[in-house]
Amino acid sequence: MHGVERMRNLVLTGFMGTGKSTVGCLLAERHGLQFVDTDDQIERQAGKSIAQIFAEDGECAFREMETVAVRAALGGRHRVIAAGGGALLSGANRALLGSEDIVLCLTCDANELERRLDSPSGRPLLNDLSAGTVGRLLEERRDGYARFRQIDTTARTAEEVAVQVTAVSELRRVATLDVERTRVSCIVFEAGIATHLENARDVMPSMTQALVVGDANVEAAGISGSIVESLRVFVPDVHSVVLPAGEVTKSTVWLEKLYQACQRWRLERESVIVAVGGGVVCDLAGLVAATYLRGLPLVLVPTSLLAQVDASIGGKVGIDFGRVKNVVGAFYPADAVLVDPKTLRTLPPGRLAEGLAEIVKIGVVCSETLFRQLEDLDGAGSILRCTQVIREAIHQKVRIVQRDPFENGERAMLNFGHTIAHGVEAASGYGLAHGEAVSIGVVAETWLAERLGVCERGPLERISVLLDRFGLPLHVSALDEDVVMAHMSQDKKRRGGSLRFALPVRIGEGRVVDITEIDARSAVRFALRAAA
Ligand SMILES: NC(=O)c1ccc[n+]([C@@H]2O[C@H](COP(=O)([O-])OP(=O)(O)OC[C@H]3O[C@@H](n4cnc5c(N)ncnc54)[C@H](O)[C@@H]3O)[C@@H](O)[C@H]2O)c1
Ligand SMILES: [Zn+2]
Repeated sequence: MHGVERMRNLVLTGFMGTGKSTVGCLLAERHGLQFVDTDDQIERQAGKSIAQIFAEDGECAFREMETVAVRAALGGRHRVIAAGGGALLSGANRALLGSEDIVLCLTCDANELERRLDSPSGRPLLNDLSAGTVGRLLEERRDGYARFRQIDTTARTAEEVAVQVTAVSELRRVATLDVERTRVSCIVFEAGIATHLENARDVMPSMTQALVVGDANVEAAGISGSIVESLRVFVPDVHSVVLPAGEVTKSTVWLEKLYQACQRWRLERESVIVAVGGGVVCDLAGLVAATYLRGLPLVLVPTSLLAQVDASIGGKVGIDFGRVKNVVGAFYPADAVLVDPKTLRTLPPGRLAEGLAEIVKIGVVCSETLFRQLEDLDGAGSILRCTQVIREAIHQKVRIVQRDPFENGERAMLNFGHTIAHGVEAASGYGLAHGEAVSIGVVAETWLAERLGVCERGPLERISVLLDRFGLPLHVSALDEDVVMAHMSQDKKRRGGSLRFALPVRIGEGRVVDITEIDARSAVRFALRAAA
């Protein structure tokens, strides 16, 4: 079965002191998941420490609160949950686990545990920590814990344990995506993976030769260089090409130069193209992989936010031709997509905002949860800390693409905002960045949806507030209405006398609607309103 990965939540249980919280927190941060510690939740709810609850209300009361906390934690998805040492010992609590929740039990040798716990702890069951207490409690719980897969933490650091948990769970795997029935992409999300490709060998095709394609900016940021280095650890023959940065590179000129590189280094059917960069590099190198020797294995390491949530997901590769964007291309999903949020740290802030415009687009027509997560961000830069948003956006895009890989229906929803975006982007002579154009398009198309009654009232205001907070434009002045209309009409989505728009119905849901030229023009006029 393909599509969004089955794992719902990862639950870490085990005796106190085994590192559930430390390891859980580390894993959540690394893989863009939410971290929930049930003990913390209980303390927050009760307004006092667990030791106080035990002393004042008794263990029974505590266990009831624990059930409530476990239920609440398991009610979400994409979480790493640290469940207190006794939380999953009761059958009732275990019954709350869904078949898609993975439970791992951290263990540790009794002597080391005693050392780890030998500090004033506020741990109620250990108040009388005396020699042997830990051993006795461990013995009592042995059968309970034995139900779950065990991970031994003795003499290991939290980091080492985290690596093993990642290896045995589906934690970093966002999805496998089957676009062509014969090619399946494995999409993983892991902070730091771009500088340690050797840790991703399990998801990549086997390699004896690799051609790394990057651009001048990812080279200057040190990203493509460290990828080459980490590949050299296990690939005998690694070459690299550095392209100039920017959309102009998505051309037949650079396609040809890459084919020449493939010939110069005698690439064979098994040689792997590794694309490192934004959407431009992923699209161009992807087309080379799709066509050279009728198809080479392809690994994408998207390094812009836009590429991580959009360009690298879904198998479209291509170049621009004759001033028309993406007009030459193919569906050629990468074998592996390695998403490393750490690579975004060197991305210019405006580029982060551009990626956010695409995430807003996905949220508005596909997922209210995602939209709310965006509303929780302070500004564009906070996405670097709240990487769950990135993972969720990928998850949503995969969900749609898996159901409609060749854009015969539902995938067209992802064109929301883009009909007008293409118009203003082209009319500006590409002076407007794509993400800025998307922001303007999203606003104007939502306005149109509300005006036509396709959408309930309200989203326009929420969306505008959000885009504005990310520093994105809501309108653009100084463009000619007729020129914008002319570019929109050239758009490939034109049908008969009407234009096909993907419009929101409410936040989290959209539908495709045919719009008359007059209504489309009114939306363009709204987009061209001078910014207030
Ligand atoms: N294939 C698809 O499904 C799909 C979807 C959406 C967009 N796209 C394409 O993607 C392209 C836009 O993608 P983009 O916004 O990533 O453009 P881009 O590749 O030009 O990257 C934007 C800029 O950021 C730089 N950059 C990228 N990562 C960096 C990093 N980590 N540190 C410093 N600088 C970095 C790049 O060099 C470039 O200057 C367009 O060509 C668009 O058509 C394709
Ligand atoms: Zn776009």
